[in-house]
Amino acid sequence: MTLDPVPDRLSDDTLAYRRALGSFATGVCVVTAHSANGPLGMTINSFTSVSLEPRLVLWCLDEQSERWPAFSAAEHFAIHVLGAEDRARAERFAKGIWSLAPEDYLDRPDAAPCLPDVLCRLDCRTHRRIPMGDHMILVGEVQTFQARDGEALTFWRGRYGS
Ligand SMILES: Cc1cc2nc3c(=O)[nH]c(=O)nc-3n(C[C@H](O)[C@H](O)[C@H](O)COP(=O)(O)O)c2cc1C
Repeated sequence: MTLDPVPDRLSDDTLAYRRALGSFATGVCVVTAHSANGPLGMTINSFTSVSLEPRLVLWCLDEQSERWPAFSAAEHFAIHVLGAEDRARAERFAKGIWSLAPEDYLDRPDAAPCLPDVLCRLDCRTHRRIPMGDHMILVGEVQTFQARDGEALTFWRGRYGS
C-alpha cells in the first residue's frame, strides 16, 4: 500500500515524475510552529542541511497545504527527525490532525513547540522565505539542537521503513 497521498489534479506524466522522485530514500521529520490558531505540526521529508557556519537548514512547504498560512508566516520552526519506532506520529502529522494537544509538546519562550522522544531536534529562527515553483523554501538558522542515538524512520517509494 502506498501511504503518500496523491492529489487527483496531477496528470499521468506528473504522477510518473513523482514516482521517479520517490526512488530517493529520505528520513522523516515533523516540523512544528506556533500559529494564530495554536501550535501545529506537519510531516515532511524535504528537510536538508544547507550550511555548517552559519548553521542553516531548509525545508519546502507545499502551497496547496492548508497549513501554508501558518508555516509560511512563522518566525520560528523546529525540525524533529523521527526514529524508526515513530511511524504513528509521522502518519498523524501527514493527515488532517495537525494541531498539537498540550500533552504532545513542551512550550518554550521564543521557540517552536518541542516534541519529545525524537532522534534529533533543531530549533530554528526563520532566516529566509523563498517562493519556488509550487512550494516555498523555508530556510532556518539553527539556534539550538539536541540529538540521541537510534535507528531512523525512512520514506522510500511511498512507504515507511527504517
Ligand atoms: C513522508 C511524507 C513527507 C512529506 N513531506 C512534505 C514536505 O516536505 N512538504 C510539504 O509541504 N508536505 C509534505 N508532506 C505532506 C504533508 O505532511 C501533509 O500530508 C499535507 O500537507 C496534507 O495537506 P494539508 O496540510 O492540507 O492537510 C509529506 C507527507 C509525507 C507522508
